[in-house]
Amino acid sequence: MSEMPAKPVSASVIEKHVYKVFPNDMNAHNTVFGGMIMAKCDRLALVVAERHSAHVCVTAAVDSIHFRAPAKGNDTLLFNLSLNRSWGSSMEIGARVEAENSYTGDTRHILSAFFTFVALDENDKPVDVPHVIPESDEQRRRFENAEIRREGRLKTREKLSSR
Ligand SMILES: CC(C)(COP(=O)(O)OP(=O)(O)OC[C@H]1O[C@@H](n2cnc3c(N)ncnc32)[C@H](O)[C@@H]1OP(=O)(O)O)[C@@H](O)C(=O)NCCC(=O)NCCS
Repeated sequence: MSEMPAKPVSASVIEKHVYKVFPNDMNAHNTVFGGMIMAKCDRLALVVAERHSAHVCVTAAVDSIHFRAPAKGNDTLLFNLSLNRSWGSSMEIGARVEAENSYTGDTRHILSAFFTFVALDENDKPVDVPHVIPESDEQRRRFENAEIRREGRLKTREKLSSR
């Protein structure tokens, strides 16, 4: 059990981080390259994890990446990431990406995903992080659901390590 003071979700949240799509972001199908969106999510989720833990963090797992709609040339991507829950040294960060047509103001839900980061000490060993305080009903729902997802992740990890 962590003895550090707990921190609210708002202390590490990233809201509506803007990325303007340019032609070099497109794939052969002329929609935005999904790998670029995933990489940006991973990088921003790292910032959330490091703000919360105040340690160097690494990605341990990524689950439930769903591309729900394509992003197009000239869209503006809006990245939203927040800490759902922390345990010992690990943290789940939820990501939601929207595409905005900046001329009309219309937005579309592009991607949702969950990232697990682990905080490391100066010897690269996992180190405990503060608990998180969910402040809204939405944050409390994510907090509860994160525990169910963690069980699934740890089962998957166990299966992979027995191969
Ligand atoms: C992630 C890593 C540090 C975990 O180290 P480890 O020696 O396995 O440590 P532990 O078994 O003590 O696990 C540490 C925590 O990570 C969690 N964890 C490890 N692998 C996980 C996975 N696949 N999914 C979810 N949680 C995981 C554990 O549940 C534990 O959480 P807790 O402290 O909150 O209870 C190690 O596996 C690693 O370095 N992986 C490579 C990371 C990397 O290179 N990422 C890409 C570049 S950033």
